[in-house]
Amino acid sequence: MNNLQKKYKIAVLPGDGIGPEVMQEAYKIIKILNKKFNTKIYTKEYDIGGIAIDKYGKSLPKKTLVGCEKSDAILLGSIGGPKWDNLPSNKRPEVSSLLFIRKYFKFFINLRPSILINKLHNLSPLNKKISKKGFNILCIRDLTGGIYFGKPSKEVKEKNKHYAIDTTIYHTYEIKRIAKIAFEEAMNRKYKVLSIDKSNVLQTSKLWRKTVNKISINYPKVKLSHLYFDNAVMQIIKNPNKFDVILCPNLIGDIISDQCGILTGSIGMIPSASINEKKFGLYEPAGGSAPDIQGKKIANPIAQILSLSMLIKYSFNMNNLSNLINLAVKKTLLKGYKTYDISNGKKFLSTKEMGNEIVKSLIEG
Ligand code: IPM
Ligand code: MN
Repeated sequence: MNNLQKKYKIAVLPGDGIGPEVMQEAYKIIKILNKKFNTKIYTKEYDIGGIAIDKYGKSLPKKTLVGCEKSDAILLGSIGGPKWDNLPSNKRPEVSSLLFIRKYFKFFINLRPSILINKLHNLSPLNKKISKKGFNILCIRDLTGGIYFGKPSKEVKEKNKHYAIDTTIYHTYEIKRIAKIAFEEAMNRKYKVLSIDKSNVLQTSKLWRKTVNKISINYPKVKLSHLYFDNAVMQIIKNPNKFDVILCPNLIGDIISDQCGILTGSIGMIPSASINEKKFGLYEPAGGSAPDIQGKKIANPIAQILSLSMLIKYSFNMNNLSNLINLAVKKTLLKGYKTYDISNGKKFLSTKEMGNEIVKSLIEG
């Protein structure tokens, strides 16, 4: 049985903020895939995040977790918003659901592609001299290690002491497995990996660099380079076109992936894939719930649609269809259609209209 005939189940978690709005546009794409490309993709919705706190007092209800476990992949909208910002930090929806899910399903691989095609260089906030070259960067971030999960992590109040502590810890097995992914991805791209660390200061970074160097021996065709985090930020802004795969520890990857994202013009176009060893994964826009534009019907659906595209590539192995979706998004942008975030104060389409245009481009092929 090939993967077009196979039945696939997606657990859809629209969540908070603009999540439910942009998810509607991803549904349109799934419909076309089933109708026009003969896939058998089924979806089932579950609550997550603030909306689940309001309904059930918990951001990740058991039913949602079980629904995810029973599915072949998870498509998430976004989580959180001002209404739940003042909850104690471990009850905040981002922490109690998103970080929990990452650890629970062992989603140690986080892939965030940032692409600026040269014809669309004027979307970028970069100077034209730099942006006109375009760029195509794949940020690969370890998602289950480092300071996000190290223990102890707490605020301590004692007699005459008041402090807080977080712990950065990296085991070599964690560094090895994410480094391998980076080299494998580079083999399908431009054969370059930049690894970012702070090994002039941090012990975990020294081990990171040493371990990445060891793994690189198995990939002689891939050119490996290293940069300290502070310098990397500057080099990426100066010439993003120079880079291909960028490999980062958890916290550094959080920052670098946003930096690369905004250089394309809007974080509203950046998808994110969080995957485990078995290629089970959670796919979501990298940009978050954007409460400031919630309900205004102006959110950019591209990140959600490209997240679906990553889902069918990495979890369903349908590379061709994934490429077709990416192409449809690219074509739509090249036709000049823009959403609010990339419109520069000029004419723009609503979330729905943009979704419809992408569907049209997909049908045109
Ligand atoms: C991301 C987000 C999360 C992170 C937050 C919401 C916990 O910023 O996915 O990049 O820091 O990883
Ligand atoms: Mn982030």
